Amino acid sequence: MLMIGVLVSGRGSNLQAMIDAIEAGKLKAQVAVVISNVPGVMALERAKKHGIKAVVVNDREFSDKSSYEKEIIRALESNSVDLVCLAGYMKLISPEFVRHFKGRMMNIHPALLPAFPGLHVQKKALEHGVKYSGATVHFVDEGCDTGPIIIQAAVPVLDDDTEETLSARILEQEHKIYPEAIRLYAEGKLKIEGRRVKIGK
Ligand code: GRF
Repeated sequence: MLMIGVLVSGRGSNLQAMIDAIEAGKLKAQVAVVISNVPGVMALERAKKHGIKAVVVNDREFSDKSSYEKEIIRALESNSVDLVCLAGYMKLISPEFVRHFKGRMMNIHPALLPAFPGLHVQKKALEHGVKYSGATVHFVDEGCDTGPIIIQAAVPVLDDDTEETLSARILEQEHKIYPEAIRLYAEGKLKIEGRRVKIGK
């Protein structure tokens, strides 16, 4: 059974989508631990509600990033995590942390990468005037939102969209493609070849 560790900082709707897929029998995996750098967030409540171990590793309580991340890695490894899923985790991952989980760490991003990496990307997509945006699940590499792309879903940008309405349309797709990407990983169907991720049958 694939053991997943989910890193969060807030709402946790993508975490919920993973839990729902697992409970519906669509994803053969187990969320071994949810780790938040922010105390008291909804993602932690969601985990607890489903009997999943929920841990806070508050980055503000550490004097440097390296000792903070060492604690996260310890929490992941002590829960036998195979795959790390970033789901609304708002901190940048150091190259050491990435290398530790190379090819075993995924992220979801609310834009069609490589367009609009970083933060506030739904607003940036609207401001730029793109006609389509969407969501991307990718493996994490040392850059910011630059890793090999696993799945993308496109959504139209409508004339009367606001940041909120576009975000909601994208989020609906996020909740589909993140569990799907994890399922493909769990079934050993993802093969990273340079920048490309090939999906086996
Ligand atoms: C999502 O839009 C995700 O793409 C981005 O942060 C947001 C997290 O939402 N990385 P949630 O916490 O999963 O509800």
